[in-house]
Amino acid sequence: MCGIIGYVGKNKNALHVLIAGLKALEYRGYDSAGIAFVNDNNIEIIKSEGKIKNLESKIDKNYNSNIGIGHTRWATHGCPETINSHPHRVGNVTIVHNGIIENYEQLKNELEKEGYKFISETDTEVACALIDFFYKETKNKLSALKKASSKMKGSFAFGIIFDDDLDNIYAMRKDSPLIIAVGDKENFIASDVPAILEYTNKYILLDKNEYAVINDNEIKIYDDNFNILNKEILTYGGTKEVAMKNGYEHFMLKEINDEPKVILDTYMQFVQSNLKDILSNMPDLSKYDKFDIVACGSAYHAGLVGKNLIEEYANVPVNVELASEYRYKKNFNNNKTLTILISQSGETADTLAALRKAKEKNIDTLGIINVVGSSIAREADKVIYIKAGAEISVATTKAYQAQVLILALIAINKGVVDCSISLEDAINYLNELEEIPKKIENLISNIEEYKMVAQTIYKKEHLFFLGRGIDYALSMEGSLKLKEISYIHSEAYAAGELKHGTISLIEEGTSVIAIVTDEKIDEKTVSNIKEVKARGADVTLITTEKLYKKYENSNFYDRKIIIPMSNVLFQELLTIVPLQLIAYETAKLRGESIDQPRNLAKSVTVE
Ligand code: G6P
Repeated sequence: MCGIIGYVGKNKNALHVLIAGLKALEYRGYDSAGIAFVNDNNIEIIKSEGKIKNLESKIDKNYNSNIGIGHTRWATHGCPETINSHPHRVGNVTIVHNGIIENYEQLKNELEKEGYKFISETDTEVACALIDFFYKETKNKLSALKKASSKMKGSFAFGIIFDDDLDNIYAMRKDSPLIIAVGDKENFIASDVPAILEYTNKYILLDKNEYAVINDNEIKIYDDNFNILNKEILTYGGTKEVAMKNGYEHFMLKEINDEPKVILDTYMQFVQSNLKDILSNMPDLSKYDKFDIVACGSAYHAGLVGKNLIEEYANVPVNVELASEYRYKKNFNNNKTLTILISQSGETADTLAALRKAKEKNIDTLGIINVVGSSIAREADKVIYIKAGAEISVATTKAYQAQVLILALIAINKGVVDCSISLEDAINYLNELEEIPKKIENLISNIEEYKMVAQTIYKKEHLFFLGRGIDYALSMEGSLKLKEISYIHSEAYAAGELKHGTISLIEEGTSVIAIVTDEKIDEKTVSNIKEVKARGADVTLITTEKLYKKYENSNFYDRKIIIPMSNVLFQELLTIVPLQLIAYETAKLRGESIDQPRNLAKSVTVE
């Protein structure tokens, strides 16, 4: 949520680094952008509404600078107009900011009494004035940052340049992520690694309440008492190519095509010699008699799939909660509850707050996380990484798949330790894993089928996804994918519930995508599909090879997509693929901005 980049060095033109870095961070927010750089001993600021290319077109090609900070915004306070874009500048201070200052109105009132005037509607301009105020008071930059930090409530990471120190970039963070990247005679600050991968893969994680001062040959990190810290320099394992489109038209398509490898990498992390190792190398879950799964967005939907699998196969109750609800409500847990936080970014504000809430009550926590070293990964008691690699498209696909896979593996593991699955059955289930990547590849190659479905829905104003049990959980993710990138309104409905009101919306030609993969309840779902078909719905049936044989000669659907068979624990990894690709193809037909849908951001670090 908002991207920060900063560069200081003699080797490169800061403006080029800032623009390239902002483009790499555009997935974090893209409604406006800006840069500040030093030109003839002055701070120059250029800002623009819209995407980075608008900003780029405003920049004079003759500018050359050794130091600058940049920002791509996802608006929180104040609409996405140039005046509200970052960098902001007040007095002697120029800043870029990621996060939210919750008490900014109160701070603004206090600063106005001190004579400050504000031109934007943002909390960031207030933070900038606050730093300027304390700098004037203390005449010491770190003290000013600390005082400002202690006054501000909320989450933040800042990149800062002071007018009287044009060789250094200052940085500080509370709850929003920030890295300091280490180059050769050049250094960087950034919200995330992709922004700097072109230049270096070495970086330092700035932690909560730490401060950094960087110039072209030195990085100094301070703790809250201004002691210098000797922090570990980490090496980013992924290649730059991972964060590139690799010839695909969109990151989303590239990332769906990454899924076979992501599945393989995710389970192979537990395997030394054979698949049975998955049973011994995953965290020990024997102690727990209840799981709370807490997450947002697609990660929440992965949790719903996980609930179906864990309850069915491990025989343990699972409570799945939206993090934004969990954090403010009464929770029923004890020392035998494991709270599982699922998050691709590991930085989602509500999920992080839910983790902290569980920890405060001494409830054990497990993070299922993609971004290594992210806040949730570091703060949870245990972590399982999903090995999805960099995911750039705002609509998640491969990370969701890997989250679901980990939950399926948890179901098997817990089932074995609690004896609800025999060892023999568990090994049979695990053996099936070797087939999944190939089956996903085959599903992806049937792209023409998904294009045909997209043709039938791309002009519609709304549609329905139907399913029962795990197919309902998949419907919710399929519906979210379609909504977020195509802007077509859709609803996922538990198939049996439609008749209690919503079926009144079904009329001649209403599109329905019906998912039927669960052999325990297929006939029930099929009855519900017949109910909508009888009212004129245009039905796309998504079903397994085996169930298709049963319904081959029926006329309750207009077209079908057939999913290869897997065992029940991994079937959902296959069923979701057409849903992701139907959403993709539909958005493409409508000409939407697939990787960066309007109003959204990849990493939501505000609550
Ligand atoms: C955003 C993204 C979603 C994601 C959700 C949770 O809304 O657009 O794709 O599922 O945040 O993100 P997390 O990083 O916690 O998985």
